[in-house]
Amino acid sequence: MKPIIETERLILREMNQADYPSLAAILQDEKTMYAYEGAFSDRETQMWLDRNVHRYAQEGFGLWAVIEKETGLMIGQSGLTWQTINETKVIEVGYSFNRAYWGHGYATEAAKACKEYAFTVLHCSEVYSIIRDTNIASMNVAIRNGMLVRARFIKHYRGIDMPHLVFAAKTD
Ligand SMILES: CC(C)(COP(=O)(O)OP(=O)(O)OC[C@H]1O[C@@H](n2cnc3c(N)ncnc32)[C@H](O)[C@@H]1OP(=O)(O)O)[C@@H](O)C(=O)NCCC(=O)NCCS
Repeated sequence: MKPIIETERLILREMNQADYPSLAAILQDEKTMYAYEGAFSDRETQMWLDRNVHRYAQEGFGLWAVIEKETGLMIGQSGLTWQTINETKVIEVGYSFNRAYWGHGYATEAAKACKEYAFTVLHCSEVYSIIRDTNIASMNVAIRNGMLVRARFIKHYRGIDMPHLVFAAKTD
């Protein structure tokens, strides 16, 4: 499948049904999903995959599979999605990785490349990362991705009110 983005160690490409097991290893891991209020079921994992395949067709982008070049394995997902902050639509850089691959700088490498893609290919003037206020690892990725905190708001997700911080970066 055609790469969307290539970095030093990673390839980002569209996810497909064959990626379900690699995606499930991320979304069904209790520790990885703590900021989402727990692991996903099989049904939620399939809906997540379907939503991203739908996004590729509708928007031309979504969360992409992150492939480690050295092994060819899908180690995470990262990409761009439309999100709503208090009724304003913004483009978000998102990322989540298989726990076995944390601590190698992969999320930051992918997030930086997605930000550049948003600026240069999609011609966005600003990109966002919306992060639960307890998710320190994710905030550090946003900071390494050159973002600053711009706002705080409450996101309603899985029946819970979750305070989130809004990180953003502008094009130079
Ligand atoms: C958010 C998440 C992707 C961050 O993963 P991470 O491994 O901490 O982030 P990175 O891949 O950028 O790695 C950074 C770490 O690798 C280290 N590192 C090692 N080798 C490195 C290299 N070659 N280059 C850069 N950093 C390197 C860094 O020092 C840093 O370590 P530190 O956290 O101890 O300071 C991960 O915690 C995750 O998947 N969480 C669950 C899903 C989630 O919450 N997603 C975000 C929703 S908003």
